[in-house]
Amino acid sequence: MQSSWKYLFLLSLLHSAYGNFEKEDVSSISSGLSFGMCRGYCQQFVNATSNPVQLSAVKQPNSADISFPPLRQTFSFSLNQWEELLALVSPNVFSKLADTIGCPGCADGGIEWIQIDWKDGSKRVTFESRRTIKGIEGLIDKLRKMREEYLPQF
Ligand SMILES: *[C@@H]1O[C@H](CO)[C@@H](O)[C@H](O)[C@H]1NC(C)=O
Repeated sequence: MQSSWKYLFLLSLLHSAYGNFEKEDVSSISSGLSFGMCRGYCQQFVNATSNPVQLSAVKQPNSADISFPPLRQTFSFSLNQWEELLALVSPNVFSKLADTIGCPGCADGGIEWIQIDWKDGSKRVTFESRRTIKGIEGLIDKLRKMREEYLPQF
């Protein structure tokens, strides 16, 4: 009995060390695009959260600049929309991705990222904009469409 508890404990340690998570523990899914050699609102992202279920969109400069105060807008997001987005997340695939894929921002390209936060952890994957990543094509595509939908609204 005692050794099986030890085994479970070890297993859960390994689980969190590898950044694995359960879908039902996901608290936010966010994604952004930014540019390095850029002035103005060079960083823009959307962030869908589960509690409350809503969507925030943010535009900010690369470093504090009084001509470009950070802009933030909250949009209503339905439970259906949250579930549709969450359905595109494969914890097993996402947690195994490298934190940086390719050479994001190189050759003046855009830096795209997806971050998933869950109950006791968080992982951000950063990649070259407009590229896709095997296994999460649907998630990337959906988040791009969300950025295109919400960010131009303010
Ligand atoms: C998205 O919002 C959640 C809840 O406020 C926060 O914990 C998380 O850090 C946000 N993600 C980003 C990328 O700011």
